Amino acid sequence: MSKPEFDKFADGYDRVLGETIPDGLNENTYFAEYKIALMADRLAHKKVSRILDFGCGAGRSLPYLKQYFPNSEIWGYDVSPESLKVAASHSPEAHFFSDWSALGDIRFDAIVAANVFHHIPLEQRLQALTLCRKSLGTGGEMFMFEHNPYNPMTRWIFERCPFDADAHMLNLRSALALTREAGYSSEQHAYTLFFPKPLAFMRPLEPFLKRLPLGAQYYVQMAV
Ligand SMILES: C[S@@+](CC[C@H](N)C(=O)[O-])C[C@H]1O[C@@H](n2cnc3c(N)ncnc32)[C@H](O)[C@@H]1O
Repeated sequence: MSKPEFDKFADGYDRVLGETIPDGLNENTYFAEYKIALMADRLAHKKVSRILDFGCGAGRSLPYLKQYFPNSEIWGYDVSPESLKVAASHSPEAHFFSDWSALGDIRFDAIVAANVFHHIPLEQRLQALTLCRKSLGTGGEMFMFEHNPYNPMTRWIFERCPFDADAHMLNLRSALALTREAGYSSEQHAYTLFFPKPLAFMRPLEPFLKRLPLGAQYYVQMAV
């Protein structure tokens, strides 16, 4: 069996990303943090005891999960064992696994998949999203963050990023169809990341633009 694609990027994930995104636009830590901050805000009314970072890769979201959900158990899943090794070296307090069947009866209150689904082959996406639903406990919520293929800068970066050579972006419409097919009972969604670094002062306006299909990314929040 061939090695998972991301094994070869495990050590240099941030460097490769940094080399792909033009200097003036690169905000690696902001891109990782905003997703978790948004998720924490949307889950503020809930008790979140256990969270899964689905496709956690080298673990960029994990320090933010720890920061925004200090009382939660944090778990990371990925098909790339090399990425999990890197993630575990930075976040030793988290629990990691790469074999879903070893999960047993464990259920999560929240799952986040940050820029993962465009790396999953088309014919396996439904199964992956259904697996996530089945691993959520009562009242659990799933958050999918994805690149918006209609944003020209996103496309430009995607076409140059070595990670994305075999990836296929999914637009919001496909993500919503997948959500329904996977059996989630309801969803909420919004476009995000409208303003690049030089216009960061305008970011407080982003919630008002959430229906405009021009943000660099979008998210879908799904309830079981
Ligand atoms: C672009 S990286 C994102 C990593 C991390 N979520 C982040 O935000 O930095 C995509 C990750 O998805 C993982 N991946 C690909 N196919 C997957 C699958 N079927 N299930 C879980 N993870 C998968 C890859 O191994 C890789 O670590």
